[in-house]
Amino acid sequence: MSAAKTVDQSALLPESLRDDFPILSRDILEGHPLVFLDNAASTQRPRQVIDAISNVYEHDYANVHRGIHTLSERSTELYELAREKVRAFVGAKHAREVIFTPGTTASINLVARSWGGANLQPGDEILTTVMEHHSNLVPWQQIAAETGAVLRHVPITEDGRLDMAAFDQLLSERTKLVAVCSISNTLGTINPIDEITSKAHAAGALVLVDAAQSVPHMPVDVLKSDVDFLAFSGHKMLGPSGVGILYGKESLLDAMPPFLGGGSMINEVRLDSFTPAELPAKFEAGTPPIAPAIGMSAAIDYLNHIGLEAIHRHEQVLTQLAYDALSQIEGLRILGPAPKHRAGLVSFAFERIHAHEFAQVLNDQFGVAVRAGHHCTQPLHALLGISASTRASFYFYNQPENVDCLLEGISAVQSMFAPQGRRRRRKHNS
Ligand code: ALA
Repeated sequence: MSAAKTVDQSALLPESLRDDFPILSRDILEGHPLVFLDNAASTQRPRQVIDAISNVYEHDYANVHRGIHTLSERSTELYELAREKVRAFVGAKHAREVIFTPGTTASINLVARSWGGANLQPGDEILTTVMEHHSNLVPWQQIAAETGAVLRHVPITEDGRLDMAAFDQLLSERTKLVAVCSISNTLGTINPIDEITSKAHAAGALVLVDAAQSVPHMPVDVLKSDVDFLAFSGHKMLGPSGVGILYGKESLLDAMPPFLGGGSMINEVRLDSFTPAELPAKFEAGTPPIAPAIGMSAAIDYLNHIGLEAIHRHEQVLTQLAYDALSQIEGLRILGPAPKHRAGLVSFAFERIHAHEFAQVLNDQFGVAVRAGHHCTQPLHALLGISASTRASFYFYNQPENVDCLLEGISAVQSMFAPQGRRRRRKHNS
């Protein structure tokens, strides 16, 4: 029976939203329209965002903060409006606490290099977790090696949640920073950021949150959570690639030295020295991602129009549906916790089929796009005793029928890879 038919339709967003996304109506192969389940890697863009980007290049584009001509003034206005939209979207106090970067990775590197370089001493500890994306591990490894700081990792429980008892034990007066993802891009686990922040602050540590997987999918409020730094990307929330955000508390950003040097980030330059600009320019050296930021602004308008609560609810339905059905499949192991502790993605591994082979067949024969590999969480995969997994990740434009397509594909691929003798031949429209 179709899993989709069992769903409570009242919790779902309308299917008509898909019409806003031109790419979703393309066929991957004859008779198989695209089923895009790789949203944790990058989402698609609605017409409204594509138009906003085209518009700026057609009507309003010039470099920002540099010219006194009409186009420069206009693009500066749009660029700063984008900053204000981001501020409101994550509930920051001031627009100057919002820094445009090339993406989440760049945002985290900025903090590691600038704050870490200026503040970490030998023996200081950075507390991160075993479920982090490489972008929230490697920059800390690099700065720890340079400063003599020590990296510690919070383990996970059997069911793939952060081990908070271990967190309590690892957190000490030596901890200077906790670097943690709000949602694991592999396990889907939603981490208790408010609790982490309050405990870290009580211990005198700052908190950096890799929010790449949460900001696009559920309401985030930096003041309420009291996080010190928050990093996320435009391309995972309907916006263009090449733009991301670092939110930081003003007092912290103010005290941090500039990261990259060059134009825009200065107040005055002499031949042998410079004085840095005020926030946010201090951290935006060179020409910033102008059109991408304006595209991100349009993406925020679009997401606000739908509502982040509604998006989260919709994804919970799809996740529950996928989780329940995948749990029934013999030889398939789901990574991570039960649906009530996870966001809109499910990663899984087969006993006998490599993730790459599986994803390839799923794409080539069913038009279903999933991610296969280690998802930039090699240490986590090693800990789980596997080298790769397959990940289906949802967004609000996915519908229960897309989960059905995934299940149909899994069943067909399993038959194809079944040992000789048990193999059932299936006919595909390919
Ligand atoms: N960070 C992205 C992912 O998890 C690329 O797939």
